[in-house]
Amino acid sequence: MKRAEYFADRKFPAGSVDDNVFASFTEHLGRCIYSGLYEPGHPEADEQGFRKDTIRLIKELGVPMVRYPGGNFVSCFDWTDSIGPKENRPRRMDYAWASVETNEFGLDEFVDWAKKAGVEPMMAVNLGTDSIRSAGYLVEYCNHPGGTYWSDLRIKNGHKEPYNIKYWCLGNEMEGSWQAGHLNAEDYAKKALEAAKIMRWVDPSIKLIASGSSYEMLPSYLEWDKTILTELYDHIDYISTHAYYMNKNNCMGTTDFLASYKQLDTHLKATETALDFVQAKATKKKPIQICLDEWNVWNFSDIVFEKMDDLLGMTTFQMTSAKPWEVAPSILEEKYSLLDALTLGGLAITLLQHADRVKIACLAQLVNVIAPITTKRNGGILKQSTFYPFLYLSRYGRGEVVKSIVSSPQYDSVYGTLPVVEAVTVYNREDETATIFALNCDQEEDVEFKAELNHFGKVRLMEHIVLDGPDLEAFNSFEHPENVMPREIPVGGEEAESLTTVLPKLSWNVLRYKVNEK
Ligand code: AHR
Repeated sequence: MKRAEYFADRKFPAGSVDDNVFASFTEHLGRCIYSGLYEPGHPEADEQGFRKDTIRLIKELGVPMVRYPGGNFVSCFDWTDSIGPKENRPRRMDYAWASVETNEFGLDEFVDWAKKAGVEPMMAVNLGTDSIRSAGYLVEYCNHPGGTYWSDLRIKNGHKEPYNIKYWCLGNEMEGSWQAGHLNAEDYAKKALEAAKIMRWVDPSIKLIASGSSYEMLPSYLEWDKTILTELYDHIDYISTHAYYMNKNNCMGTTDFLASYKQLDTHLKATETALDFVQAKATKKKPIQICLDEWNVWNFSDIVFEKMDDLLGMTTFQMTSAKPWEVAPSILEEKYSLLDALTLGGLAITLLQHADRVKIACLAQLVNVIAPITTKRNGGILKQSTFYPFLYLSRYGRGEVVKSIVSSPQYDSVYGTLPVVEAVTVYNREDETATIFALNCDQEEDVEFKAELNHFGKVRLMEHIVLDGPDLEAFNSFEHPENVMPREIPVGGEEAESLTTVLPKLSWNVLRYKVNEK
């Protein structure tokens, strides 16, 4: 059996984990909203048509905040279409996803839904095809107490109290040619700055997130960040970036796909470097944080798209699963395999490793569309394989990341030579636990894992949860909902300063220790 040694030290904090890194994202795309969140007439629908079964699973995931209404959708969206009496709301062509948007579920419904789901709403404004004035009006509608046209309209629409929405995205993926109203960096910076001014005049307390660069293959990658940060530095709190990892038709192969965590690490370091550069050059004190407001494994199964580089010059997403201009078509309904779930688990480890800089992260998305939860129209609900790593990340990933180092055998990947074990430790002072999340990338052998948790006193392994299985292609379905499930490995319960466990081959592990640092 291979051997790995791992050292983590409580006295060396590496970043406190913001609860908002367990956030998610819902977009007017496919069946995310319609029949995902909202399905009047469904046996589980409440009086507003919100699916209670979906809400239950979202609560189980512990999602603190949900971004809305897009995504690419937001750049074609007129938010005023989505308020007021439902019978007066227009049916519109949504250009982003070639669908028909009925606007039956809109802004006020989202805020009501968020309250019931126990999540904080996070909004994106349309800086593609809409105006800076409209962005100001939207903040006024949501956050102004009353006595003005838009705030009084919210009250008339049944919401006396302001929504006090705190987090606002200044557009979405504005660097991309597929975005409606795509701009170059200079023009985006000008528009975002003017929008930010107006939005903050309306509500000075809001936090603003600039649309940063996400896609390495675009010539503007990082140059975009440098330009917009230079212009916007004093006006924003976060810069957003997105990260998707694909293995369509096994184009990456198991080894390299699983190693996507390394690519996310490089990606986040690149954004951090752009931030550091602009901060140093402009001698600014205030740090700007990273908002990874879309991240996931996405295999683009039903999109004419072979590799991420295809994004270069792309102006539309061509779907193979639906004809244009359907209402809530079944598109982007990825079926996630065990390999996808392991890969997502690896990405989650990287996310925690960057807890000092990434203060918001939204798993994209939450329901039906590239999501851990799948619903059936007029039917049941399913936990996909990716539900589980996200669940444990959210449940046990809260606290303080501490510095750690691993010494293990290595493997070769497209990202270089890497240790077969990738791990991170989170210390939770309140419940006196330390949790190690560890991915064993070895495809042939289990790895004996000796964990030394320094300055934690005597530690006791309470729980070892593992996600693994004989078939990497296995996925959950309504017929077989438990094909991919984590299992518990029995633990001895002994106390020591270092403990040895076994990480099964190709597995994602959650090792929970009771610690006693006194
Ligand atoms: O999440 C799906 C899409 O991915 C979003 O609409 C867009 O922002 C990204 O390209």
